[in-house]
Amino acid sequence: MTAVPLPATEVAGSIILIGPMGAGKSAVGRALAAATRHRFADTDRLVVQRAGRRIPDIFAESGEAAFRTLERAALLELHGWSRLVVATGGGIVETAANLPTLREMGCVIWLQATVEALWRRVCTDTNRPLLQVADPRAALRATLERREPLYQAAAHVSVDTSEIGAHEVAQRALMLAVEFFGSRSKMGA
Ligand code: S3P
Repeated sequence: MTAVPLPATEVAGSIILIGPMGAGKSAVGRALAAATRHRFADTDRLVVQRAGRRIPDIFAESGEAAFRTLERAALLELHGWSRLVVATGGGIVETAANLPTLREMGCVIWLQATVEALWRRVCTDTNRPLLQVADPRAALRATLERREPLYQAAAHVSVDTSEIGAHEVAQRALMLAVEFFGSRSKMGA
């Protein structure tokens, strides 16, 4: 399917996408970056580049805590840049220090979805270490329940992606980002 690009749109700051695996952060992020002419960055991809290892290998060889340290370093590397669209890993909110960092970077948009919708999208995935367990659906539910308050605390706005495709999610996210930066400039921030 060829995605219809979004109209070119001026957005005054960076857009940061958070949310669970399968919420569409990368696809939506690329569409937003094209529309805003911001650079697209992906914390998972940066971790892989800097570590020179695939994410499943980092988890298997060094453990989740080591991955979280690399993820925090990737986020801090992006923190200094402006005019970015950033797709983050689903567990970026597990590191408490990341919450203020994310909010300082720009408009934080939480791509929400129900467990059912997420499960439909990720059930055949073998690249996500947290799903390589006996009951991945239960693991997904438990992870989501634990993280929801964290996403809520980190986000400025949210889009429910459960029933709509990436293009529509991107349209809504773009509108929210325009409003966010518009109201911030009115407040003289
Ligand atoms: C993770 C999500 C992954 C990746 C890593 C851990 C998580 O990113 O960062 O496998 O803890 O939910 P996506 O959200 O892009 O799948």
